[in-house]
Amino acid sequence: MKFTVAIDGPAAAGKGTIARLVAAEFGFAHLDTGLLYRAVGRKALTLGRGVIEPEQAVKIAIELSEDDINRDDLRTARVAQAASKVAVLPKVRAALLQFQQDFARREGGAILDGRDIGTVICPAADVKLFVTASDRVRADRRFAELLPKSPDLTLERVRQDLMQRDLRDASRDIAPMKPANDALMLDTTNMTIDAAVQAAIDAIKGAKKE
Ligand code: C5P
Repeated sequence: MKFTVAIDGPAAAGKGTIARLVAAEFGFAHLDTGLLYRAVGRKALTLGRGVIEPEQAVKIAIELSEDDINRDDLRTARVAQAASKVAVLPKVRAALLQFQQDFARREGGAILDGRDIGTVICPAADVKLFVTASDRVRADRRFAELLPKSPDLTLERVRQDLMQRDLRDASRDIAPMKPANDALMLDTTNMTIDAAVQAAIDAIKGAKKE
């Protein structure tokens, strides 16, 4: 059985949480595609001693390993910024394309979350969701998530990081963040996690019946 669910949307809108819980519900494999860009961005920063060198970033993307993706230091604001900088490079995106498309076609079903899954990676996905939330709510959520590991972080810093990344992600020439024409829009601003997950589950069940 092959079944692909694409979840896109801006940072901290709830995509990852929804994707993880929906994957568990249906027994789908889940790929957080942001981690691929974060892994490339982190390594490019480290090797370039704080400066991202585009050719090096492309080489890193081509040679990316599981160890690079499974690191536990990828979810910082600094790495997120680096991720969105390498994500504008067409050759970096091209190097990561096949891995994501193979993942999407695996037996048993797959759910991928990111920015361009429904538009570029899996335009024929069985279900596409575009998850949003207000800027305020997204900043609050991400702040609460990052604070335990970064006690010096401020809400304003988190808000700026999200706004900068959203702008870069939505305005880049290649694979910009935008809803697919046939995506179901899910605004989670005033929704509980349970309600958002249920809406996604209902959409998938509906598509499976067709
Ligand atoms: O989803 P996450 O916040 O971890 O993504 C980090 C960055 O990776 C995003 O800001 C975006 O620039 C990039 N990204 C992307 N395409 C994806 C997933 C993430 O460009 N499919």
